[in-house]
Parts: sequence; structure tokens; C-alpha cells
Amino acid sequence: MALNGLLDIEMCVPDPAELNDFWLRHGLLQTAQGVLGTVDRPVQMRIAEGSYRHMSELHLSCETEQDLADIAARIGSMGVDSTISGTTLTCIDPVFNHRVVIDVGAQHPLSPSQRRAWNHVGDTQRTNDRAEAVLEESLRVPRRLGHVVLATPHLADATAFIIDGLGFRVSDQVLGGLATMGRVEQDHHNLFIQPGTTSYINHYALEMDDIDAVGKAGQAVVDENPDAHVVGVGRHYLGSNVFWYLLDPAGTMFEFFTDMDQITDADAWDRDFGRRDWEGADGHAPFAVWGPKEPESFFFPADADVIAAAREALGLK
Ligand SMILES: [Fe+2]
Repeated sequence: MALNGLLDIEMCVPDPAELNDFWLRHGLLQTAQGVLGTVDRPVQMRIAEGSYRHMSELHLSCETEQDLADIAARIGSMGVDSTISGTTLTCIDPVFNHRVVIDVGAQHPLSPSQRRAWNHVGDTQRTNDRAEAVLEESLRVPRRLGHVVLATPHLADATAFIIDGLGFRVSDQVLGGLATMGRVEQDHHNLFIQPGTTSYINHYALEMDDIDAVGKAGQAVVDENPDAHVVGVGRHYLGSNVFWYLLDPAGTMFEFFTDMDQITDADAWDRDFGRRDWEGADGHAPFAVWGPKEPESFFFPADADVIAAAREALGLK
């Protein structure tokens, strides 16, 4: 009885065709005009025109119609109005101002990735043959939209709405509770709320089959535009995912990731790992177990002032 899926997002950008074409070149499929998806999930990103780049809709699913009523009641008590039409709830996120659309629906399992033979020490799986990553002629493509990360100076309000209101389940809280990683599926995080100087989408993340798929897909983006590289490849502490962060043509950061922690039993999951007193200047979990340190642009995008000005002009906090 709860949220059970991150279905898709809508991105508003000044040049929708440019973003659409970028993703067609990098493995998403054109499902319809302005709609991109994957083999298993035909709708993952919808692209619309807007005066500044922002996420304009977060589309989720939940198990039952009672869930919709419960969500409406919870967010209503926070002063957020919603409408329920049939099996769909719609409201406006009070901090970020995107539409939140929640449909009653079942989860959509992914078809398993095709495993590559890997020569582990003491466990040789491939002999007398070169690695598939060397021989394969076409790139592995993104499998699904896995998570979005939202940043805001209004952390308490954002967290209250998303966690207490919508019902995302907390997987880890860091920065003394100021940053929250929540899930609706069994991924460690489908949504991460972190501090920001204005309210914006820090990144969206596409799941890949494995580390070779992350590396090769990221390399293809960098080959096209070296300035698209932000940070990677590395492995995060929280969520454990292998990552490579890059910029799309609209200037929004995205992540190719693989091998994220999966939580199927909340009682078995150790949330104290994230809460422990980490050694280091800030006392919170470092960005990565291995890999390059994140650049300042990871948390402070070059166009943050453009987004802040656009939001201010619209009267958004
Ligand atoms: Fe991420």
C-alpha cells in the first residue's frame, strides 16, 4: 500500500529538439513526438519547450486507489491541494513547482541484462575469447530512468512534502538529516533531496547494464563533446552505484549508473551507516568510495543564477 514506481519525468528546455536528438544518439528510443523511452519502458522522459531548463513533471505510480486518497489527505494537511480523477492524482510540488502525477499501476519489471563473462580471480568465466565489451559492435543502451536528484534551499519543506506527504521511503539521510535519499521502488534511491542555492533538478539518472555499459556510453558522450564530462567514473558510498555524471545539451546533469543497492526489507537495511560520524572536514559520507572528487559544478551548476532568476520572475520561492 504505497508508492511503487518512478514512471517518467517531463523536462522543459529552451531547445527541445536538441535534447531529443541528443538522447536518440545516445540510446533512448523515440516513442512519440517529444517522448523518449527504453525497450522495457517506452515512456521515460517527455520533453517540452520552456524558457529555462527545469523538470516540469514527476510521474509516479502507487498500488491502490486508497493510496491516492491517503496521499491527498496527507498533502492536504500540509496545505497542498490535489485533484483525483479516476485513478490519477495531480498536484503541484510546493517547493519545486513541478506537477506531481500519480497513477495507480503495477510495477514494470525489467528484462534481465545480458551478463558478460567476467574473469574473476579464482573464477574464470571466459577463456580463449576476448571480452564481450571489446568485441561487441553496438553500445549497450540505457535501461530505465532510475532516479532524480532535486536541490533546494528549502530542504525542510521539500522533505516534508516528498517524504511525509507523497510517501517516499527513506533509505539514508546525510548532512545531519538535511539531505534525504528516498525510494518508491527497491532501488536505494529514486529521489534525493539535497541542498542547493536555488530549487532545481541536480540530475536525472539512467540505469545501465554494467560498468562497461556505463563507461562506453559515457565515453560516447565525451567523444561528441569533451565539455560534457562532469565527474566519473566512480562508485558512490550511499547507494553504492557506479556512476559517470555528464551534461546534456540543455545543461542538465545526468548520470549513467549501475549496480545500485536494492532494498527489499526496510528492517534489514542499516540506515546508521549513513548517519555515522564520518571522518573528514564535513563529517558526512564522502562522494565516492573511489573515483575523482566531485567538482564544484556538481553542486553549483553554471546556470544556477539563470534558473534562480527565472523562478523569481515567476514568483516561485
Ligand atoms: Fe545519482
